[in-house]
Amino acid sequence: MAEQKNTLFDRPGGYAMPAGAGPANRQDATSGETIVLGGDSEPVHQAKPGVLVPSFEAADPDTRVYTGDCRDVLANLPDRGEVDLIFADPPFNWDVPYDEWQDNMSRSQYERFTYDWLDGCIEALSPTGSLWVNIPDDTAAEIVLHLKRRGLTMINWCIWHFRFGQCRHSSFIMSKVHVLYFAKDPDNRTWNPDEILEQSDRASIYNDARTMAKDSNKGMRVPMDVWYGPYLGRIQGNNKERRHGHHNQIPEAYLERVIRSCSNEGDLVLDPFLGSGTTVTVARALSRRGIGIEYAEATAASAWERINEIGMVRTGTTGGSSAIHPTRGRKKAKS
Ligand SMILES: C[S@@+](CC[C@H](N)C(=O)[O-])C[C@H]1O[C@@H](n2cnc3c(N)ncnc32)[C@H](O)[C@@H]1O
Repeated sequence: MAEQKNTLFDRPGGYAMPAGAGPANRQDATSGETIVLGGDSEPVHQAKPGVLVPSFEAADPDTRVYTGDCRDVLANLPDRGEVDLIFADPPFNWDVPYDEWQDNMSRSQYERFTYDWLDGCIEALSPTGSLWVNIPDDTAAEIVLHLKRRGLTMINWCIWHFRFGQCRHSSFIMSKVHVLYFAKDPDNRTWNPDEILEQSDRASIYNDARTMAKDSNKGMRVPMDVWYGPYLGRIQGNNKERRHGHHNQIPEAYLERVIRSCSNEGDLVLDPFLGSGTTVTVARALSRRGIGIEYAEATAASAWERINEIGMVRTGTTGGSSAIHPTRGRKKAKS
């Protein structure tokens, strides 16, 4: 029997998502079929009603920072239903000594907290909006299942790979975080691949003439779903991007990739866990409108200084190569 090849891989989720899985998720979500998860039995957060006043704001492009619990802020946001892109890097419940937030809930409370802020984000998103979540191994699966049962479609399950981790002997060293990319409507979302192209391995390693003979984007490709390489490492103490006093600061190049690919100039970008302000700093530098939400007052003030006065410190990093092998045939330098 002739082998049948599956050629339908150029779709959200690629081979990882069988054709029809996206629509089926949406159908299940609306037909009331349930996925039951830990944390479902905990009481849903009751958001405090109220008129929101930004703690900090600036114009051109319109940029705001709200101080408070994102579950309350999202519920009262004047822009509910209009946000084009959300990037969320929540507390991981790892006992991190944040300024004010207690990062040590019971597991079931943490899961309930997670579903509540995800639901707030879903309501804030426009019908064509995208939601990205940065999350480690222990809660990635729950987030994926929750978003599926809410009818969102997974576009990519990316991995942020870093090589500067925590040394340990009891198991393999953790060197990744999950970067989950979901859309409300996979067929009607903002996707700008040309904005984020990088040099392909064919060009940078193999000097393959075929890639240089293409009509457009010679030698370039959309980045793969495992992210690593120059400017994508963890932000350590001596990194020029480093904002001291913040935990888990994400590299500007990572946010630049998310924001350029999934929004246009003038679009509204929101981060419910602002931290040092990376998302809104990059959004503002790229002429997007921005909203940041941060629980701790001092953290919000420091983020605003970065957003409003310092700005992006590492521009022009897209378009390079992330190749892990040197050019083939390159001569060894004489010592
Ligand atoms: C992991 S850090 C975000 C780091 C950020 N991505 C960056 O690049 O700097 C999480 C931040 O969320 C804040 N936070 C925790 N719980 C929150 C909540 N319920 N609402 C708003 N902010 C919260 C913490 O104070 C902390 O600053």
